[in-house]
Amino acid sequence: MASSLSQTVLLSILFFLSLRQACAEMTYLHFYFHVDDVQTNSTDYGAISVLDESLREGQDNSSTLIGRAQGLQAEVGKDGSFLTMFNFLFLNEKYNGSTLAIYGRAPLGTTIERPVIGGTGKFRLAKGYTLATPLVFTSTQIIYEYNVYVWHIETTDD
Ligand SMILES: *[C@@H]1O[C@H](CO)[C@@H](O)[C@H](O)[C@H]1NC(C)=O
Ligand SMILES: *[C@@H]1O[C@H](CO)[C@@H](O)[C@H](O)[C@H]1NC(C)=O
Ligand SMILES: *[C@@H]1O[C@H](CO)[C@@H](O)[C@H](O)[C@H]1NC(C)=O
Repeated sequence: MASSLSQTVLLSILFFLSLRQACAEMTYLHFYFHVDDVQTNSTDYGAISVLDESLREGQDNSSTLIGRAQGLQAEVGKDGSFLTMFNFLFLNEKYNGSTLAIYGRAPLGTTIERPVIGGTGKFRLAKGYTLATPLVFTSTQIIYEYNVYVWHIETTDD
């Protein structure tokens, strides 16, 4: 018992040393998800589609592009809800090339909360959640406002 405890402590120390000055950090991100190509009739139970949409600084669709949302969505709920799997690839100066992986249930017409299950680059070991609020939802334009709360490490070796 005592030896397995000290083994655990030792492994934890080695883990933290191996991260080389890593420290946990909380980052808040705010941006707008613009659906570039709105397909009005794509909603059917069992339907699966792929997406590559714009993440922009503002609600205006000509505002600065800060990343892309690339992923899969499937209509898995008979209530019209979706299962979504996204990588948010950041292209702005601060997080250029880093990604966040978002996985979760997306009911329509309400604020959607989804888990952040991982990340790369500046967002290694990411954990957190996203809140997506539909701002515009018409047959020609769909925009969500995103609030993202993410805990991750910052390493010095990249
Ligand atoms: C969508 O589907 C409905 C019924 O299936 C059809 O009447 C309508 O024309 C379709 N709209 C578009 C934009 O394809
Ligand atoms: C850009 O926004 C305008 C109005 O805000 C809208 O009419 C137009 O369809 C949008 N363009 C795209 C590609 O979504
Ligand atoms: C992001 O990285 C790419 C490739 O390294 C580079 O071409 C681009 O200019 C960078 N963008 C910004 C905004 O720093």
